[in-house]
Amino acid sequence: MIMSENVQAPSKYENLAVKQDDSVLYVTLNRPDTRNALDGKTLRELDQVFTAVEMDEEIRVIVIQSTGGKSFAAGADIKQLHERTALEALIPGMQGLYSKIENCPKVTIAAITGYALGGGCELAMACDIRMATKSAKFGLPELNLGIIPGAGGTQRLARMVGKGRALDMIITGKLIDGEEAERIGLVTYFVEKESLQEEIEKVISNILKKGPVALQLAKLAVHKGYDLDMGTALWLEKLSQAVVFGTEDKKEGTLAFLEKRNANFIHK
Ligand code: COA
Repeated sequence: MIMSENVQAPSKYENLAVKQDDSVLYVTLNRPDTRNALDGKTLRELDQVFTAVEMDEEIRVIVIQSTGGKSFAAGADIKQLHERTALEALIPGMQGLYSKIENCPKVTIAAITGYALGGGCELAMACDIRMATKSAKFGLPELNLGIIPGAGGTQRLARMVGKGRALDMIITGKLIDGEEAERIGLVTYFVEKESLQEEIEKVISNILKKGPVALQLAKLAVHKGYDLDMGTALWLEKLSQAVVFGTEDKKEGTLAFLEKRNANFIHK
């Protein structure tokens, strides 16, 4: 195992609770009094987590969740936002962090209960899989504050649910629940609150049966290919496939099928 730093040292974080369970890292947003508003410290701590996991071969799935039940994350911290200048809005900030999360070589799952507003909704959209309960409420209400969604919201939402629905949600600032979010493609799994953890574990157990290099490259081909023209994107897919064809895991995965047994992938 290559480990750049201890990602879950208990003393490391104030606004996050980070717990590793074998190959799964649970990252819990932990500022319930502010409805998990994403202040600078929380964003810096998330950045630390995602930097540390990049080189950690043991961790294969990251679940982002929240405490308090009322809110996944209520967006950027509006107190801090009030003070931010035009030049400060130019730094990578939250948008840069969410690109890092989208580009993370691990599979990311957002488990959403309660409000996922503004930067909270954008954080969920930067993850690969979104699982939400009925209590989830998604929205991009930034225009109420005289600003626009600036952490990928205008782009990821339109790509996920189509331009018309994205414009409607952004312009009106309306909130939609978990069920509607699933209907329009904003979330991938709509589950009962009581069975959320069980459903997360089912999805994870399925993911962990896959070849790790294949997972990483499949994710890259979808995320990066999505914004390219078809011909270039198909080449990206072909080159990614050529890389996995060169791995031990490809030999093992295909052989395991032929020998009617489970594959034992070694991430090589
Ligand atoms: N930034 C900073 N503080 C926030 C916050 C945010 N994004 N969202 C909530 N809070 C704080 C509130 O100011 C309040 O603090 P206080 O107890 O010191 O007064 C506390 O969290 C609880 O919020 P409250 O509004 O009383 O809770 P609620 O359950 O009635 O409503 C929300 C929850 C999320 C619907 C509501 O807080 C809200 O609309 N928040 C802003 C959402 C937003 O516009 N996000 C986009 C930001 S770019």
